[in-house]
Amino acid sequence: MVRNNMTEPTIDIRFYLNGIAFNRNAPASWTLLRFLRDALGYTGTKCGCEVGECGACTVIVDGQPVNACLILTPQIDGANIWTIEGVAAAGANELHPIQKAFLECDAAHCGFCSPGMIMSTIALFLKNSNPDDAQIKQALAGNLCRCTGYIQIIDAVRKAASKITENDLQKFVS
Ligand code: FES
Repeated sequence: MVRNNMTEPTIDIRFYLNGIAFNRNAPASWTLLRFLRDALGYTGTKCGCEVGECGACTVIVDGQPVNACLILTPQIDGANIWTIEGVAAAGANELHPIQKAFLECDAAHCGFCSPGMIMSTIALFLKNSNPDDAQIKQALAGNLCRCTGYIQIIDAVRKAASKITENDLQKFVS
C-alpha cells in the first residue's frame, strides 16, 4: 500500500471486470461501488442506501452476489467481477435472455433496482437454473423495488428460467 499526494492510502489491484483484465491503483478506503462508478465509469451498478439494505448495488464477485457498497477495493484484488454492463454479449446488439424476460414481463418500472435484480437472478441461476417461486423470492429477498413491482419481477425470473441455457450462464462462472 502507498500514499498519494492527498495522503489517501492506495493499493495496486488486479481483477477481471466483465471478462476484461484490469490493473489499477485504487484508494484502499473506497467501496467497490464507488470504485466502479467514480473511477471506472461503470454507472450501471446503482447506489441506493450504501449500507447493504437495498440491493441496488448487487454485482457478482467470483460467482456470488455481493453488495458492492459493502466491500472495499483491496478485497477485489484477484477477483472476477460481473456488472450489468457485461450481461449482454459484447458487440452482439442483443439483450441477454434474463434482460429480455424483464422487458417482456414489464418488470422494470423506474428501473433503478433492475441491475441489482438481474445480477441476483444470474447468481440464483448459477446455483439453480430451475427455481420454484419460493426459491426466486428467497434469492431476491435482498433486492428492494421502490415501485413495488415484485409480481412482474418474479414473473420475469420465472420466464427467464424457462429459457436460460448453460451457455447463457457460462461466462459468469469464475
Ligand atoms: Fe448497496 Fe443499497 S447501495 S445495498
